[in-house]
Amino acid sequence: MIRRIKGTQDILPDETPKWVALENLIRKMMGRYNFHELRTPIFEQTQLFARGIGQLTDIVSKEMYTFLDRGKKQLTLKPEMTAPIMRAYIENKLYAKAPLNKLFYIAPLFRQENPQAGRLRQFHQFGAETLGTPDPNADAEMIDLAWSIFKEIGLTNLTLRLNSVGDPNCRADYKIKLKEYIRPNLDKYCPDCQRRYDENPLRILDCKNPTCVALNQNAPKLVDNLCDDCRAHYDAVKEQLHRLNIPFAEDPYLVRGLDYYTRTVFEITSSALGAQNAICGGGRYDLLAKELDGPDTPAVGFAAGIERLLMVMEQQGIVLAKKARLDVFLAPLGDKARAEGLAWLQKIRATGLSAEMDLLGRSIKAQMREANRQNTRFVLILGENELEKQEFAVKLMDKGEQINVPFETIIDFLEKESAK
Ligand code: HAM
Repeated sequence: MIRRIKGTQDILPDETPKWVALENLIRKMMGRYNFHELRTPIFEQTQLFARGIGQLTDIVSKEMYTFLDRGKKQLTLKPEMTAPIMRAYIENKLYAKAPLNKLFYIAPLFRQENPQAGRLRQFHQFGAETLGTPDPNADAEMIDLAWSIFKEIGLTNLTLRLNSVGDPNCRADYKIKLKEYIRPNLDKYCPDCQRRYDENPLRILDCKNPTCVALNQNAPKLVDNLCDDCRAHYDAVKEQLHRLNIPFAEDPYLVRGLDYYTRTVFEITSSALGAQNAICGGGRYDLLAKELDGPDTPAVGFAAGIERLLMVMEQQGIVLAKKARLDVFLAPLGDKARAEGLAWLQKIRATGLSAEMDLLGRSIKAQMREANRQNTRFVLILGENELEKQEFAVKLMDKGEQINVPFETIIDFLEKESAK
């Protein structure tokens, strides 16, 4: 038997309504905040991610699905959306169409991680990106957007962690201090961190290896080394969060797993999840556009994991999707009735009602059981008697009543009765 690939999921018909309801809520909220959807291809040139996210990040060095196509081009299934959004923004010159671009997405992504609860190899994110302004209001609006969506869903027990990773100016000094702190113990760090030491020491702060985590405990903090501009920016973001009544905890060691960040970084975690407790992460990336050969474009964004959100919703008993109902189940008895049934379904469906008929030649008892299973509102019985009298025996399932309705008025009847 051929099985699905490890770390991927089939989303079965009884689960898709949950996804659709959540996606609808996300779209509604993105509309309120005036963000517009951008869709990008499922694969890109590998270079986009290698340059955009950073060679020494876990995503690029260990987790990308990268392959050569038949033309020997190196391609990668997208592991995140920020670099593709920026690529599309530059390539389609969106900066020339509007001075500020507020974009959102809902997309499947691919990372070859070790699968566990809340960590998949194909997963889904929704996210938003504001391209074209360094204004700290844009950072605060972005956090407010994520926070409001989670509130609209009904999530509780969320924690927002916030930090500033400065810019290359203040980071240069900080890197020297960090390396001084690490140097005496460098041989105790994991091989990955030893590699990162020269090329990208900040990454060492994001290492999940318990030995490295312990060694990092008293490391100097970037927030204590911010330049005046970055400090003012960080203070302005915090002030706006206070005004918006969004509680946050400062985490001086939050650096995030991608290299493109400058200044603001944040994560939102849920106490309902285990080890993989981040439902959302984001921050500012003022230099990514330049890195990808585009025009200077300061930007900020976030992305949230949909599978993790659904896990938290499940834990908190939050149900967004209405229970599915079938409006009309047509129960034909005999070949003649079955032959006429489909044309009736077509007429009923044209009114906007959902309709279905038995295609398995079941007994009336079995058909009623099926109608119940599908939570049906009206069952239309069409037997020999009914054919002769040119009428349906209609069961109003909610009321537990049965009445006869002539063929010529059945559509009218269903329309009126279903609107009640
Ligand atoms: P990220 O932190 O890599 O950031 O991912 C954001 C969220 O996606 C995570 O908090 C988590 O909920 C979900 N996620 C990540 N990996 C997995 C996985 N393997 N399985 C299930 N869920 C996962 C980014 O991707 C950045 N592009 C966010 C961003 C947007 N920064 C600026 N703009």
